[in-house]
Amino acid sequence: MNVIIVKDRTEGGQKGFQVFKEAYQNGAKVFGLATGSTPVTTYEELTKSNLDFSQMTSVNLDEYVGLAPDHPQSYHYFMQKHLFDQKPFAHSYVPDGLNSDAAAETARYDQVIADNPIDLQILGLGQNGHIGFNEPGTDPALGTHKVQLTESTIKANARFFDNENEVPRYAYSMGIKSIMTSKHVLLEAFGEEKADAVKAMIEGPVTTDLPASFLQNHGHVTVIIDEAAASKLSQATL
Ligand code: F6R
Repeated sequence: MNVIIVKDRTEGGQKGFQVFKEAYQNGAKVFGLATGSTPVTTYEELTKSNLDFSQMTSVNLDEYVGLAPDHPQSYHYFMQKHLFDQKPFAHSYVPDGLNSDAAAETARYDQVIADNPIDLQILGLGQNGHIGFNEPGTDPALGTHKVQLTESTIKANARFFDNENEVPRYAYSMGIKSIMTSKHVLLEAFGEEKADAVKAMIEGPVTTDLPASFLQNHGHVTVIIDEAAASKLSQATL
């Protein structure tokens, strides 16, 4: 893993943008996107830039089950607001949270990924080491699947809802297997609350207990972390 340590998430966004720009200039056509607070500064840099995505495709990692695309907390809505309204793509795929037929929706989304191999996948990192909604214990051989969110993720995401009861309990998520097929993975993590997960992801064993640790088996991973998220790394990594 190529680990880049930055001062804060603002600088992280600038570095993240550089990674996007290089991928773009090297011919990337399909961008795997994430939601959450982490990629926001990178998306801000992208929207300010003159990069044109109108011939490109985006494929998002995940979506809450049960939320309509126009629900303010849906990941569809998040992407419109933070990126697509300013930088439209030719095609943007996000799992359909309103499809209650999980088998049909996950198969459909696996086909989307198969038809649009991802050149660059941006990821955030859960405090418990999740990537996408692949929570600890998830079988890494799974493709897109329906996930029951853990208590820790529900609590962490409650800040975006009026109260914890409103946080959906299920999501559709790309699997670790799907993420591993991306040509290049860019993982960003900012803040002290991510420091334990960052350390385990980079220095710990590859284990289902810490889903992001599977990225150690991927040949092209760029990790952008701020000083707080890097604070528990050993000298050997720094
Ligand atoms: C979002 C996603 C999640 C987040 C993670 C970190 O699409 O898949 O894995 O990346 O929960 O969330 P933030 O960035 O809000 O700390």
